[in-house]
Amino acid sequence: MDVRNINKGESSRVLRLVEQCGPYVAPHNLYVYWMLENYYTSTCKVMEHDSELIGFISGMPSVDNKSLFIWQICVHKEYRNQGIAFLLLDSILQSAREIGYRFMELSISENNNASQSFFEKYARTNQLKTVEKRKEHIGSTIEVIIKYEL
Ligand SMILES: CC(C)(COP(=O)(O)OP(=O)(O)OC[C@H]1O[C@@H](n2cnc3c(N)ncnc32)[C@H](O)[C@@H]1OP(=O)(O)O)[C@@H](O)C(=O)NCCC(=O)NCCS
Repeated sequence: MDVRNINKGESSRVLRLVEQCGPYVAPHNLYVYWMLENYYTSTCKVMEHDSELIGFISGMPSVDNKSLFIWQICVHKEYRNQGIAFLLLDSILQSAREIGYRFMELSISENNNASQSFFEKYARTNQLKTVEKRKEHIGSTIEVIIKYEL
């Protein structure tokens, strides 16, 4: 099982995976995933197993912040807790470093304990420094916004 860049024509498959991974990641319009496969290829990664997509991470380079903003990360329920999200994040951060970005930013719903624990463990394991951590109301949800130095 290898991590690779998203391929052109794969947006429907990614959307199907995201649809199964709620409630903290929300499936968006197919057009959004089409943009990712066409314009963010090297910062959007997938993992495939037996011809099924089982993991997805999307990173959007922010020119303003010189950081990689992690938009969505999800692993199919049957494949969780096997280190797949670690591999997805490793891969995307390698690409971020290659393009000269020094920061990673992300937001996590305040109630999403699994994801918060995942990013904390990843940062600890890889000795990433937390530059900023704050809470923000976005509509009806409270998000924890975190910025790490790579
Ligand atoms: C968050 C998510 C991507 C983690 O993927 P994963 O492949 O299972 O994670 P990994 O196996 O690489 O990492 C395991 C670590 O993540 C954290 N973790 C994963 N699932 C957890 C859970 N249910 N409860 C608490 N911590 C959890 C732990 O730190 C765990 O390490 P530990 O086993 O030593 O406690 C996955 O649970 C998921 O797809 N969730 C639904 C979508 C989502 O919420 N995405 C994040 C939006 S910000």
